[in-house]
Amino acid sequence: MNNAEALRELDSKIELALQGGGAERIAGQHKKGKLTARERVQLLLDEGSFQEIGQLVTHRSTNFGLEEQVFLGDGVVTGFGNIDGRLVYVFSQDFTVLGGSLAEAHAEKIGRIMDLALQNGAPVIGMNDSGGARIQEGVVSLGGYADIFFRNVRSSGVVPQLSAILGPCAGGAVYSPALTDFVMMVEGTSYMFVTGPNVVKTVTHEEVTAEELGGANTHASKSGVAHFTAPNELVAIRELRRLVSYLPSNCEEEPPALGYEPSDESRPELDSIIPENANTPYDIRQVMNAVIDPDSSMEVHADYARNIVVGFARIEGRTVGCVANQPAVLAGVLDIDASIKAARFVRFCDAFNIPLLVFVDVPGFLPGTEQEWRGIIDHGAKLLYAFCEATVPRITVITRKAYGGAYDVMNSKHIGCDMNYAWPTAEIAVMGAKGAAEIIFKNEIARATDKDAKWKEKEAEYKQQFTNPYEAAARGYVDEVIRPSDTRIKVIQALRMLRNKVDKLPKKKHGNIPL
Ligand code: HXC
Repeated sequence: MNNAEALRELDSKIELALQGGGAERIAGQHKKGKLTARERVQLLLDEGSFQEIGQLVTHRSTNFGLEEQVFLGDGVVTGFGNIDGRLVYVFSQDFTVLGGSLAEAHAEKIGRIMDLALQNGAPVIGMNDSGGARIQEGVVSLGGYADIFFRNVRSSGVVPQLSAILGPCAGGAVYSPALTDFVMMVEGTSYMFVTGPNVVKTVTHEEVTAEELGGANTHASKSGVAHFTAPNELVAIRELRRLVSYLPSNCEEEPPALGYEPSDESRPELDSIIPENANTPYDIRQVMNAVIDPDSSMEVHADYARNIVVGFARIEGRTVGCVANQPAVLAGVLDIDASIKAARFVRFCDAFNIPLLVFVDVPGFLPGTEQEWRGIIDHGAKLLYAFCEATVPRITVITRKAYGGAYDVMNSKHIGCDMNYAWPTAEIAVMGAKGAAEIIFKNEIARATDKDAKWKEKEAEYKQQFTNPYEAAARGYVDEVIRPSDTRIKVIQALRMLRNKVDKLPKKKHGNIPL
């Protein structure tokens, strides 16, 4: 073969690989409102930066006529490239090839990308669109999945792992995303379930659509499996790029620092944000948005456990992880879902050197049989555990209520918070004054001729003594009682002061978080 012939052979192989499952299947993919694996990679990465690995890999199976269905690349596009000039590794499953199903060669390609990402300290982004284990390849497909799961766990906390769900993901195809740090789903075209509606009907006799069982809204609001949703793939991929902009490439690095032009950092609107009545709700996001750099937030799990808000933001151009009780939903109470949501976010931030900024307005843990029988003791302890073990810079701002165990849990000084600020409206107490008075002055109230007046008097007495920030400030549990309008200035100064914080956990194999 001469040079020209050799080049022609190469070109024709590349051409074939680029066709994936062929024009007809690509058209089918587009008709469903979905992009192809390659189109997704091009959108995700900086223009011209994608370098493909394993383009000519094929499967070696001859089971059930597979030898007649050999596609270059074996249904997954893998390689590396840049997002905003920073290295990332990527795999993108090609549904036009055997339904993006995963088997030996396909799994080896993904495994290679994950190994390279781990060795070179850069994020892995998986774009999933797969019918699960390739049925024809049997146990080899199951082995392939397990090889990936093993790598997901080994990489956890070392490099960020992001998953986009861009089509049906069934069976094994859901467990790898579940082991990653963040899951993005697209409304109307992506599904995640261990078993689909047909199996559900056979086994449990439940009639449920794919959308209800495992669509984007289901996982974003009911199960919490999805951290983000997007109306279409273009938005989903753009949001993934934005997410990467907040994250360090690996656990040894700091998150990227964008430039920031200092300006007037006073926020006078915060001085009047707390309602007169302590039980009137307000939106904690208004407080957060005033404290962080303008328009710098990216909320995580926005539709799940909305009584707590978590997300990334920037202060002076540097990433922070915000955790905030949300008085506008269920009075900001901590329940099981809120505790789990926040605990996972806190642990992610701690693993990747992202300082934590916590806003507290919490009436306590949610009482009742439903929560107790589902184990709020263990689940609430997850959040406690997550804060206790976090060694990143940690700042707390108590805006209003910090009651009971929830005061301890929400990044209190006692569990390692570095700087604890309280607004003058803060109420740091074992419980609300009314309930407290009823319990500790029960006999006195019972003996009084005007019981209501006595109760009110005792409530006022308790309020005077405890429902304020000053008892805590006197003991140093609160570092400073600040004017709300100064919060941004205080947080900026604290973050600068804590920039070189070093704190190490005692030597151990790993802790035993109450899972
Ligand atoms: C081999 C598969 C496949 C699979 C789909 N295809 N899934 N081939 N193995 N798992 C092929 C189809 O035969 C078809 O090929 C093409 O992909 C497109 O599939 P369609 O069914 O036409 O597409 P659609 O109607 O969109 O339905 C998509 C789907 C459905 C919902 C994903 O294909 C499906 O239910 N697949 C099986 C899902 C499943 O049960 N997987 C195994 C899970 S067990 P042609 O040639 O016609 O285009 C598992 C265990 C791992 O994953 C456990 C690890 C913990």
